Amino acid sequence: MRLEYEKMDINVLIQTLERANDCNHAPIRCEMLLAELNFFKTEFNNKNVLVAGSGLGDDSFKLAKFNKIVLGLEIVPQLLSISKNLKISQEVDNVLFTNTDFVETKLPDKDFDVSVLNMGTMCNFNDTYKMRVISEMLRVSDILYFSFYLPDENSLRSRASMYREEWLQESKIEDVTISNHSGLRSASISKQRVEELVSMCGYKVDFYSINSFTCMAKVY
Ligand SMILES: C[S@@+](CC[C@H](N)C(=O)[O-])C[C@H]1O[C@@H](n2cnc3c(N)ncnc32)[C@H](O)[C@@H]1O
Repeated sequence: MRLEYEKMDINVLIQTLERANDCNHAPIRCEMLLAELNFFKTEFNNKNVLVAGSGLGDDSFKLAKFNKIVLGLEIVPQLLSISKNLKISQEVDNVLFTNTDFVETKLPDKDFDVSVLNMGTMCNFNDTYKMRVISEMLRVSDILYFSFYLPDENSLRSRASMYREEWLQESKIEDVTISNHSGLRSASISKQRVEELVSMCGYKVDFYSINSFTCMAKVY
């Protein structure tokens, strides 16, 4: 499933990630990211944190402000290179970025306190891959937090508005999946399905509301 990212036009992906954190251009996404961050602040601090899919490094740099160490794992070399350059220019000591697939990290068991998969990234993957992510992140950390999108009609409509701001184009809603011509393909998941997948992996989950269309799963 990670190949979807590798097939995207890299410049479009970079610009979209840049816009996502810019409240002037993508206020819905920006507020969602702020709500995710505020939630993380209530859940943990001074921990060793693994970021699954670090992109340009935005959430890694924010998490580093209130944690011991943050390691960002990223599969796309161009994104990794930008985040590494930002680390140098911003002189942040407690963040590291590495070119690692987050379903095959080769990290030692329980090396981290917490792992984080933000921005609803889990919704890009099929169920088999979701279970691989859950299993690998819980092998290397004590707790996994991942956000996901809810499948009801209002949630889907709000989410399409977020993508319009973020991708500068209309997206298509088909059943519970939202897609666009640039390679976006993000399905929604019910809490019940998340619970089933987590339970099949042998773990428990608690849910927290992030905004009207996003939920956070805490898996342990
Ligand atoms: C929505 S972005 C989130 C970026 C970042 N966490 C942030 O807050 O800006 C998801 C990232 O996950 C990366 N990714 C997807 N599959 C991956 C995998 N199997 N291993 C490592 N990174 C992956 C993508 O390349 C992308 O940069």
